[in-house]
Order: sequence, then structure tokens, then C-alpha cells
Amino acid sequence: MRQYNALINNELIDNGQWLEIMNPATLNVAGKVTALTAEEINKAFSVARNSQQSWEEVLLLDRISILRKFRDLIDENKNEIAQIISEEIAKNLKESLSEVIRTIEIIDYTFEEAKRIEPLALTGEGMGAKNKIGIFSRVAKGVVLAISPFNYPFNLAFAKIIPALVMGNTVVFKPATAGSLVGAYMSNLVIQAGLPKGIFNIVTGRGREIGDIITSNPEIDMISFTGSVGIGNQIRKMGSTTDLVLELGGKDPALVLDDLNLEKYADEIINGAYGYSGQRCTAVKRVLVNNKIADKLVLILKTKINSLSVGMPKDNAFITPVIDEKSADFIQGLIDDAKNKGAEIITGNKREKNLMWPTLIDKVTIDMKVAWEEPFGPVLPVMRIDSIDEMIKIANDSQFGLQASVFCQDISIALSTAKRIKTGTVNINSRPQRGPDSFPFLGIKDSGEGVQGIRESLLSMTRYQGLVINY
Ligand code: NAP
Ligand code: G3H
Repeated sequence: MRQYNALINNELIDNGQWLEIMNPATLNVAGKVTALTAEEINKAFSVARNSQQSWEEVLLLDRISILRKFRDLIDENKNEIAQIISEEIAKNLKESLSEVIRTIEIIDYTFEEAKRIEPLALTGEGMGAKNKIGIFSRVAKGVVLAISPFNYPFNLAFAKIIPALVMGNTVVFKPATAGSLVGAYMSNLVIQAGLPKGIFNIVTGRGREIGDIITSNPEIDMISFTGSVGIGNQIRKMGSTTDLVLELGGKDPALVLDDLNLEKYADEIINGAYGYSGQRCTAVKRVLVNNKIADKLVLILKTKINSLSVGMPKDNAFITPVIDEKSADFIQGLIDDAKNKGAEIITGNKREKNLMWPTLIDKVTIDMKVAWEEPFGPVLPVMRIDSIDEMIKIANDSQFGLQASVFCQDISIALSTAKRIKTGTVNINSRPQRGPDSFPFLGIKDSGEGVQGIRESLLSMTRYQGLVINY
């Protein structure tokens, strides 16, 4: 059984208390990580604070070359890291390895982009000023708390940790419980890479037990959180003055207009809806299709869904068990509610514990929960709609505003429709997606606040520091 320790000040913490991590595919224990006490968590923040100034004083290029040793260890251990991800979140092995490789690419790009975060130099002329030069540099915020979700336990962790460290911040990282094995596995790599003491601390424990202790620590200068709306809003309401970047849930609609070449684009909808069993914030979570082509689209989707492999992550099945049985019960509740209210189950609605077959629900109407709630599972509701105006209304009548897709051959109609959709991003003729990671990534309304993406993260982990010269 795997066993990894939390890390504080480059010391592995063994307090004799452990948190067991389940393997969602076997429903057996996959391993255990340290369950930290409040006192140990507070120590993580104080060492992060104490080491911050000296880390910030290391020159940018030297910080990058120190961090590069850590990046190289990730590369050397990528197969093992992928194996751990797969064991604890039931992501298939191929996608788990892609997650690690994508992370290495983000790290490399971040190292390059950091060199292009130039200071702003201005001359003060007018508005009562003359003979002034202002130089506004980006400096570290201080101590960054990074909290990641279960579904990209490696990638969404390091998309926060690396920009924070590169820009001279120190980090306290709290992985999701399902995701803690890979999180705490990093403890050994931090030590092996010889990162300076205290700059990167890994705190493990169950969110509902240690969440408040972590998020209310007075040493925090910034929280970068990815996860559910519920916990995100809890952090928002704590009312602290800490800077926040929150990437939360979504209910991304795919608008399918009547001129679409359905054969050409159906795979985008399928991959968008069912990739990693629908457990992506950017999954297609509802299809709003023009009534005229709805029968044809549903038939094509049904055929493709029935050919998706369903099984275990080690066998690289496309559909794998969802994270736990509680989530499967919630997803099943949404399917049952739609069925009871008159929706048609086209395929799926079959379940063995937390392994759920990909389900397509047709004729979903606005009184059904699945029209509005995020299943985070392999379920796709189809709503048949007569006009673009009505599609846009339903797309926008949502608490969420992460992304949307417009599938349409006519580029003018596609663009004018996209302009009216209230989400962080609208994709034309592709599924919603965070990548490429060099693009800004953001959600509005309940989907979040602040912006991620490589450059945006580097900026959000810094603030301006002005120096004004008078002559
Ligand atoms: P979650 O339950 O909100 O957990 C997210 C993180 O918060 C975990 O590390 C969790 O730890 C921690 N946490 C739990 N309670 C806390 C508290 N009181 N204070 C501070 N932290 C606490 O979300 P999830 O189930 O892991 O992820 C799925 C959700 O994330 C979905 O809604 C999805 O849409 C969203 N998501 C959004 C994005 C995006 O970029 N917009 C990306 C990925 C996922 P424990 O696991 O120990 O509870
Ligand atoms: O789950 C949320 C992720 O940010 C989505 O990333 O679009 O690359 O799958 P992705």
C-alpha cells in the first residue's frame, strides 16, 4: 500500500495519524497520507512566511534554474505519477499520463513566460505632474495557499504552485483528499530536488476537518482555489481581505444550430461530454439543439455513445468509475428526476456501484434538475429548442458562466450568437476546454472569480510595486 507524508520546511511529517485514500475502481484503500494537526498546519504557514523574503530575493533566472531540478524529477517519474493518479481518481492510465505531460509543458512555458513579465515604465506628464518617471514592477504577493480539486489532482495543483514559486511567493499546498497520494508523493521530490526549505509545503487532511484552519490562517496573502461552488463560496464569504482566484463549477451548454454538419462535429460533443466520465468543469453539460435536426443528432450521439468502452482505468476504458458512490447516487438522482418528469432515456442509465454507463437523456425540459445542475458524471441532457433567441436565453439562465460552445457552419451567425452568451469563453465548433493553457481561463457568475492561464496566473500571483523618480 502506498504511504506518503506531508511536507513542512522540507521535513516529512510523521505524526502517527493517517488519512486513508480510496481507489474508486476497486473500492479498496489505495494508500494513506499524513492527517495533519492544526498545530502542524499553522507551522506550515509560519515557515512559508519566514522563507518568503529570502526566496523573493533570489534572482528570477536562479529561481527558475532551482525549480527546473524539480521539473526534471517530475519528468523522470512521470509514469509512476500517472500510475498514482490513475489509482486514486480512476482516470484511465493514458489520460493520467497526458495530465502529467501537459503539466510539464505548462511548467516549461511558465518558466519562459515569467521572463516576459516586464515592469511598466511611465513618464508622468499632466494631471498636475511633471518631471516624474514611474517604474511599476510585478512583485510577489507573499504566501500563496493553493487548493486543488480531485479531477486534475496534479495538473491543477502545479498550474498554481509553479507560477507562485517562480514569481517569488512561497506556497502552502492542500490537495483534494482524492488526489492526496500524488500530492504527498511530491514531498520526496521536493527534498530530492533540494528546493530551499519552507518555500513549498504540502498539507494533507480532509477538507471538512482542516479546511477552516487552513483558509483562516492570518499568514495567507492569496488563495488560489479550484473546486466546487459550495466550497468556493464558503471561502468567498469568509470575508477576509486575502486576494482570491476561484475556479469553480460549470454547466457548459453546446448550442447546435440547424446548418451543422453533424457527422463532422458529433465527436466533439461526445468527447466534451463524456471524457473522464464527465468529471471536468468544462464538460459539455447540456446540448441545446435546434428542433429541426434534433432527431438526427440524437441518433448519431446514441450510436457513438454505445461504442464507448466502459470499464477499469488500468484497461484504459473511456468511461471509468466516478469518484465515489455518493457522487454516483447524486448523478443517478438527476437521471431519475428527469425520467420521472417525462424525459426519454436514449441510452445508458445502467450502474454497478460507482461505475455508470454513459447516459443520453432526450427531451429534457426546464423543470428538470438536470437542465441546470452540474452532474459531474457521464450524463448528457438534450433540450430541443426552436430558435437561437431561446437557446441563448436558456444558456444564460444559469447560475454558472464558465464556457459554452456554438456549433454552426455560418461564421456570422456563430459569432453573433457567441457574442450574446454570458460565459468566460465561447468556443466555436469545438468543445469547451481550458487549453491551450497559454489562453486566459475564467468563469463568471458562480463559476468563479479571477483568471488562470499561464500569463494570467503569473500576474495574479504578483502585485505592482511602484517606484517614482522625481527630477
Ligand atoms: P470540492 O469538493 O469543492 O474540493 C475542492 C478542494 O477543496 C479539495 O482540495 C477539498 O479537500 C477542499 N476543501 C473541502 N472543504 C474545504 C473547506 N472547508 N475549506 C477549504 N478547502 C476545502 O471539489 P471537488 O469535488 O474536488 O472538484 C469538483 C468540483 O470542482 C466541480 O464542481 C468542478 O466543476 C469544479 N472544478 C472547477 C474547475 C475550474 O477550473 N473551473 C476545475 C476543476 C474542477 P477534500 O477533498 O479533502 O475535501
Ligand atoms: O475540470 C476543469 C478543468 O479546468 C478542465 O480542463 O478543459 O483541459 O479538461 P480541461
